[in-house]
Amino acid sequence: MDLIINGARVQVQADPAMPLLWVLRDLLQMTGTKFGCGVAACGACTVRVDGQAVRSCVTPVGSVAGRAIQTIEGLGTAAKPHALQAAWIAEQVPQCGYCQSGMLMAAAALLEKKPRPSDADIDEAMTNICRCGTYQRVRAAIKRAAGMRA
Ligand code: FES
Ligand code: FES
Repeated sequence: MDLIINGARVQVQADPAMPLLWVLRDLLQMTGTKFGCGVAACGACTVRVDGQAVRSCVTPVGSVAGRAIQTIEGLGTAAKPHALQAAWIAEQVPQCGYCQSGMLMAAAALLEKKPRPSDADIDEAMTNICRCGTYQRVRAAIKRAAGMRA
């Protein structure tokens, strides 16, 4: 089937029921998207589909064929980081880092919907789990990125 990942058309041979996460990681070697729980609870596997944050561990790849998939590899580059990535560095958000690509993708979806999110907006949108407890710095970085983009 044809997938559109980070703006590029990619052909994969996969059972349509295969979770998008496994297609990304195992078939395409795009390992920036992480496996945490496998049951849509932690958010480590978050990618965007048509702009919305989606938990790829429970998303059958067949349901996203032909739709715009964005992964952490497509958010920004070292030379040209997304505002969120620059803010993440400025606020020194990550500790172990494992949850962070999912956090960034959820935050990117939030900022597209709400360019100046309130604390309540952030709490509602950011349901990702971080075992290192980076929540306060995640919130600060989202606000910093919103300010940078304004
Ligand atoms: S691995 Fe998908 S939500 Fe935890
Ligand atoms: S930074 Fe370690 S789990 Fe979030």
